[in-house]
Amino acid sequence: MIEIRHLGKSFNGRQVLQDINLKFEPGRCNLVIGQSGSGKTVLMKTMVGLLWPDSGEILFDGRDFSRDKKQEQLTAIRREIGMVFQGGALFDSLSVLENVIFPMDMFSSLSRREKIKRAQECLSRVDLSGAGKLSPSELSGGMRKRVAIARAISMQPRYLFCDEPNSGLDPRTSELIDALISEITRESGITTVINTHDMNSVLKIGDTVNFIYEGKLWWQGNGQDILDSDNPEILHFMEASELTKRLLKSHRQRRDSALRGKGRATGLQPESGTDPAGNMAGPGNNPPEKDASLPFHGQGKNLQRQNP
Ligand SMILES: Nc1ncnc2c1ncn2[C@@H]1O[C@H](COP(=O)(O)OP(=O)(O)O)[C@@H](O)[C@H]1O
Ligand SMILES: [Mg+2]
Repeated sequence: MIEIRHLGKSFNGRQVLQDINLKFEPGRCNLVIGQSGSGKTVLMKTMVGLLWPDSGEILFDGRDFSRDKKQEQLTAIRREIGMVFQGGALFDSLSVLENVIFPMDMFSSLSRREKIKRAQECLSRVDLSGAGKLSPSELSGGMRKRVAIARAISMQPRYLFCDEPNSGLDPRTSELIDALISEITRESGITTVINTHDMNSVLKIGDTVNFIYEGKLWWQGNGQDILDSDNPEILHFMEASELTKRLLKSHRQRRDSALRGKGRATGLQPESGTDPAGNMAGPGNNPPEKDASLPFHGQGKNLQRQNP
C-alpha cells in the first residue's frame, strides 16, 4: 500500500498540489483522474522520487520516500517501482529486448543470461515474444506501450505507476492496454497507480478513482460511483466528452425510471452539502441505499465542493 499524507507541491510560488491525503491499495487499479494541468503527473513524479514534495509524506508500505532519507532506502524503494511513462519513453537506440533489460542493468545483479530470460518472459507476458530484436521505431503505438509495460515489470515491481498509458492510442488498443495493466496488477498483487483522463478506463478498470481538481483531492469513489456522483466538478469533467455525456444521461434515465418503478425515488437523492470530514455518512449527505437490482451504485465521497 502507498499512503500519501498532507502532500503539497508548488512551482515558483504557484501551488500545484495542496494537502493531498490518499491511500493506494495493492492488487487494485488505483486511478488518478483530472483535467489536463490538474497535477496528475506532478503527483506521480513526486511519488516515484523524480520531484521532491514541499511538504507531506509518502509512505511505501510504511517506508517514507519523501525527504531527508538515506540513499540506500531511496534506492531500495526505487528498485520496487516500475514506471510506464507517458509516451512510453523507450530508447530508440536500443532493441526492444535491450529496453526491457535496461532496468535490470541498473538495479539488479542478475547474470546476462538471467536478464535475457526474464526480459523474454516479460515480452511474452505482453504478447510480444517475437519482437525482441526489433527497434522501438519499427513498432506501432500499442506495441510501444506494451514494451514499456514489459520494461516496467521486468524488476517484478511491488508498485507500478502508469502515466496516461492510453494517450495516443485508438479505443480498441486502449482497452487492451487497460486490460493488460489490470491483469498484471491482480495476478501479482501490485499497487498500481494510473493517471488518466480517459473515461472509458475509469469505467472499465477504476477500482478506486481519485479526482484531482485545482490541486486538491476533490472526489473519491469507484468507476461506477462516478456515474451517480452529484459533484458538479466531476459532472463537468465527464461532460467534456460527448460520448460520456450521453452515457451519463442514459444511465441516469435508466436509474431514475428503475427507482420510480420501485416507488422509492424520494429520499434516495441526497441533499447537497458536504461533510467537512469528507464522510458520506451524516445528515444531508447520506449514501444512497444500495440495491443490487438497480443500475445504481454509490456516489463516492465528496471531499471538496465548490458551491456548497
Ligand atoms: N517542472 C515544472 N515547473 C513548473 N511548473 C510545472 C512543472 N511541472 C508541472 N508544472 C505545472 O504544474 C501543473 C500540473 O501539471 P501536470 O501535473 O503535468 O498536469 P496533468 O498531468 O494533470 O496534466 C501545470 O500547470 C504545469 O504547468
Ligand atoms: Mg500529465
